[in-house]
Amino acid sequence: MKVLGINASPRAGGNTDMLLEQVLAGARENGAETGKIILGELKFSPCLECADMKDDGSCIVRDDMQSVYEKIKGADALVFASPIFFGSLSAQAKMMIDRFQCVWRAKYISKKETGYKKINGVFISVEGSDRKDFFENAKAIVKNLFAIINVSYKGELFCPRVDTKGAILDRPDCLKKAFELGGRIVKGE
Ligand SMILES: Cc1cc2nc3c(=O)[nH]c(=O)nc-3n(C[C@H](O)[C@H](O)[C@H](O)COP(=O)(O)O)c2cc1C
Repeated sequence: MKVLGINASPRAGGNTDMLLEQVLAGARENGAETGKIILGELKFSPCLECADMKDDGSCIVRDDMQSVYEKIKGADALVFASPIFFGSLSAQAKMMIDRFQCVWRAKYISKKETGYKKINGVFISVEGSDRKDFFENAKAIVKNLFAIINVSYKGELFCPRVDTKGAILDRPDCLKKAFELGGRIVKGE
């Protein structure tokens, strides 16, 4: 089983990244192969609303998003990770998500097969404050994405009061839950 993690934080080795690593470690412990996409390392544009957009679910913009589409198609489970920025997902996360408009169009307007098989996914997030509504905002957008790419939203882990780089290391409760979540993904729970 291949578990793919997507890190949408711009901070390399930051709190989101460390939390995601724990989920992936938990998945490996339970026999999965894991991979990770770091959106901040990719070069891709936001959605350009191309007039000549195709109706087969593919995006005509040739940039690093092409590898993201392929990796998600090849995954058996997805872990989407973003910090809370201004009460929602990071810009990197939203930029990636908007690039799935081509899939939305193929699925709901053209009613075509998009090549995304049914898999399970979870959403993990951190924030400096303790605002449940911020996590809920972000979750609503992630659930929207998951529905479009046939990912069943199986769970989440939200860690509030995590701000400076590495602060997540002072939250063994979150790290433990992340590791356990990785195991649950592999078991399909
Ligand atoms: C641009 C920006 C916006 C942020 N907005 C919020 C916010 O609205 N609410 C909040 O609780 N924390 C906010 N934070 C704090 C981050 O969520 C927090 O520092 C988090 O641990 C960063 O995770 P990372 O280390 O993975 O990047 C913001 C941080 C940045 C850089």
